[in-house]
Amino acid sequence: MHKPLLCPSQLLHTDLTGKIFIVTGGNSGIGLETVAQLAQQGAHVVLACRRHIDGDQAKSRIMVHQPRGVIEVAILDLADLKSVKDFAGHFLAKHSHLHGLVNNAGVMNVPYGKTKDGFETQIGVNHLGHYLLTELLLPCLKASAPSRVVILSSCYHDRAVGREGTIDLEDLHFERRKYDGWEAYAQSKLANLLHAKELAKRVSGSNVVVTSVHPGWVRTNLIRNSAPLWVQDLLLRPILRLAGMLEPKEGAQTTLYALLAPEVASHNGKYFSQTGFYRTKEASKGGWPLNSPNPHAHDDQVAKNLDQLSRRLVGLSS
Ligand SMILES: NC(=O)c1ccc[n+]([C@@H]2O[C@H](COP(=O)([O-])OP(=O)(O)OC[C@H]3O[C@@H](n4cnc5c(N)ncnc54)[C@H](OP(=O)(O)O)[C@@H]3O)[C@@H](O)[C@H]2O)c1
Repeated sequence: MHKPLLCPSQLLHTDLTGKIFIVTGGNSGIGLETVAQLAQQGAHVVLACRRHIDGDQAKSRIMVHQPRGVIEVAILDLADLKSVKDFAGHFLAKHSHLHGLVNNAGVMNVPYGKTKDGFETQIGVNHLGHYLLTELLLPCLKASAPSRVVILSSCYHDRAVGREGTIDLEDLHFERRKYDGWEAYAQSKLANLLHAKELAKRVSGSNVVVTSVHPGWVRTNLIRNSAPLWVQDLLLRPILRLAGMLEPKEGAQTTLYALLAPEVASHNGKYFSQTGFYRTKEASKGGWPLNSPNPHAHDDQVAKNLDQLSRRLVGLSS
């Protein structure tokens, strides 16, 4: 078991007063800890989530610690492009700046299903919804530069429970191949990494830094479609901890580092990884940044083709 990488303490004490961030999936797990830390440092954080009640509850939990910043709950359903457009529209009507966008929300190994717009759920929520969100907010991120986009990927972009991470651009939605929940998750997480890589190229020179991250193996609700939460959170918790499972606060470290560390600016488009489960021992130690052992993560042509396909699918003219 490798030691988790920790964000240097001085970064977590930097004053973020006057800075505005959006964290998707901010009501739970790694997203909630990310919102809490940014608010603690004085930032204005938009906690984006599917339901007001969940956002309000998450906000109340954070407010107990009397953060210096402001938390604004806003509704975003990444499985519905209209909701993404509405969210971005409301944000832009209210705010003239955005210093950091954290594309954190995600689902894992869900049964086969489709988003409102007909995309396979995992590629739709994890990648395509975030793709549109990022494009709609990009002019504001550019106008607010220096600014950052952090995209939550996973070590499962390499291999997820035995399935190698690949992208099938001819059949992104599993219409011609048999659906496998882990294969679809791995595909979506590889898409996250390639999204960061290609977007960084597109925004080069604008002082917008884009990275993807693996947060570690973290005790959150993400596992709920693969195992009962009580098994992870109660029954096996001490054993899983010994096996390397991190608490959500530890899971937020890589995101916070990618968002706040000055040296990340010289790694535009790179992948930052907490300790993980990779095909090589070396990669499993993690690295800020880490050279992914998956050859598909280095395929510039696939990254470019995915970018163009994503653009078309979310209805943006090229
Ligand atoms: N936990 C890990 O070990 C691990 C490892 C590698 C990568 N990651 C990545 O880390 C990110 C955060 O996950 P987590 O572990 O913190 O899991 P989590 O506690 O389940 O949080 C996921 C968040 O995504 C939100 N979400 C799901 N579907 C959505 C939709 N259609 N629209 C908007 N929001 C939606 C969830 O909202 P609801 O509460 O409404 O469902 C929740 O807020 C994910 O991208 C995941 O792939 C996690």
